[in-house]
Amino acid sequence: MKHVKLRDLDVARIGLGAMGMSHGFSDSGTDDAESIRTVHRAIDLGITLIDTAEIYGPYINEELLGRALKGHRDQVVLATKFGLVSHAGAGPWNLDSDPANIRTAVEGSLKRLGTDHIDLYYQHRVDPGTPVEETAGAVADLITEGKVRHFGLSEAGPDTIRRAHAVQPVTAVQSEYSLWTRGIEDRILPVLRKLNIGLVPFSPLGHGFLTGTVRNEADFKEGDFRRGNPRFTGENFQCNMRIADQVQTIATDADATPAQVAIAWLLAQGDDIAPIPGTKRVHRVEENTAADHLQLTSEQLDRLSSLPPAAGDTHPEAARRMLER
Ligand SMILES: NC(=O)c1ccc[n+]([C@@H]2O[C@H](COP(=O)([O-])OP(=O)(O)OC[C@H]3O[C@@H](n4cnc5c(N)ncnc54)[C@H](OP(=O)(O)O)[C@@H]3O)[C@@H](O)[C@H]2O)c1
Repeated sequence: MKHVKLRDLDVARIGLGAMGMSHGFSDSGTDDAESIRTVHRAIDLGITLIDTAEIYGPYINEELLGRALKGHRDQVVLATKFGLVSHAGAGPWNLDSDPANIRTAVEGSLKRLGTDHIDLYYQHRVDPGTPVEETAGAVADLITEGKVRHFGLSEAGPDTIRRAHAVQPVTAVQSEYSLWTRGIEDRILPVLRKLNIGLVPFSPLGHGFLTGTVRNEADFKEGDFRRGNPRFTGENFQCNMRIADQVQTIATDADATPAQVAIAWLLAQGDDIAPIPGTKRVHRVEENTAADHLQLTSEQLDRLSSLPPAAGDTHPEAARRMLER
């Protein structure tokens, strides 16, 4: 697998998102043994960057990774996130990037992950109640102490990125970016490139939609976050099918699968980008990793870049307000 640099952090250019193993999808948490096999297969295939967060579960996704990584810790670049659990306050799904909260969060993550350091520690969402300079300063202290190696932000706006970076250099920003979610291209990517910050696109497969395997919204069970997501509901869902169908057509043309095409298009956007497709299945991590070898033609890339825009927002209103602050 080819490697890229996220600033000064070397990673294989396709990573693994672990969230869905425990959280978010209809069948999350139903087969931990297969999830652990998937992590091991990912490592065999050369994947290094593995992504989780304390909020996934909450906590159980980090615990699962802690079990999976026993004996493999040194082979991976382990990324987790703080800031969506307020430990002394209102609990999960409450923004809190106060330095004291970060101190509590990091100890919990280290314990659950079974490690003495986190390679890449992201603020999960910007906390308007805490100046980002204070958050960056708290992570800088953790870096000095050796508990954290690199600082990241997720879904932060351009000013926040600049302000945080001035206090503690930001290694990577993790934001949603895929064939049907391209909002960061105008406002965020140029800032990252100017400051030499890497990009980790999350949900590179459009939460599964771009793979063409999501055909019916009735399949989403209680607890599947796509149930309330504007892109996956009602008329928008039907309208967005044309995007998945066109990705399938180009995939057939490229003798590849739609998932591979979606990943290869992202890889073609720069050598400062490392997407983290999520899967909990061995055969899919094999399929997704093979995108490393897929060379799309410029005509195929152009067709992918010209897909129709998606109908519906990426998030419901309350969650959308937390983006790009
Ligand atoms: N920073 C943030 O705020 C944020 C938000 C969301 C996600 N993330 C991170 O990004 C990672 C990926 O995002 P995501 O899970 O939302 O979306 P994704 O990677 O776009 O898609 C994952 C979905 O696609 C399915 N899938 C994976 N490979 C497939 C293939 N080859 N063919 C058909 N289906 C396939 C998975 O099902 P199976 O698991 O059953 O294969 C899962 O349902 C997460 O794990 C998480 O680490 C971060």
